[in-house]
Amino acid sequence: MGDLHVREDNAETYRDLFGEISREADVLVLTGDLTDLGKPKEAELLAQDLKACSIPVVGVLGNHDYECGAHEEVSRILRDAGMKLLDGQSCEIDGVGFVGVKGFAGGFGRRMLGSFGEPAIKQFVSEAMNETLRLENAMRQVRAKRTMVILHYAPVTDTIESEPLEIYPFLGSSRLAETIDRFKVSAIVHGHAHRGRFEGRTPGGQPVYNVARHIEKPNGKPYAILEI
Ligand SMILES: [Fe+2]
Ligand SMILES: [Fe+2]
Repeated sequence: MGDLHVREDNAETYRDLFGEISREADVLVLTGDLTDLGKPKEAELLAQDLKACSIPVVGVLGNHDYECGAHEEVSRILRDAGMKLLDGQSCEIDGVGFVGVKGFAGGFGRRMLGSFGEPAIKQFVSEAMNETLRLENAMRQVRAKRTMVILHYAPVTDTIESEPLEIYPFLGSSRLAETIDRFKVSAIVHGHAHRGRFEGRTPGGQPVYNVARHIEKPNGKPYAILEI
């Protein structure tokens, strides 16, 4: 599940949902935008809710978790709560490899933003490329036969359909899919596109799931159950 967007007013608590997920699944995967504004106080509220989770929790941060410039403290709070927060690393849980990186924007296919022109554009593109290089390094570390890739940004357009076309380039980058397709993976999960579609594929045919909380899942719940 992704895009929890935990807010300081704590209008929504995830305690019951985490309890339910713990009974249904072996691992909880969180695909970023865990907090709404990246405030440490929001991360603390999520850390409280995570106490209701009795299974391993692994995931990545999203762009919202960077908003206040306190992502390091947000990360520390979530790690202290037991979450395996991946930022260009991998880990193995029960024989399954998990690779995590936030990813970045930049667009898709031939219409991807290229490194041309002003320094600010080049910096933007280099951020997107950097994320894919970190993803590639993490993928190389995996020894498990089954692997799940955890992203915040979308690697394909299939799973962002229904979002306005104008914002597609800000929802992800196919540089991520190009990197992943060099490896064999069991599933790729992402969030960020709240109005996208649940299921898609990379150009190499590997399954991609948009698990943002707002997306309609086959089980009718805010979370998806994936068997890999
Ligand atoms: Fe979000
Ligand atoms: Fe996001």
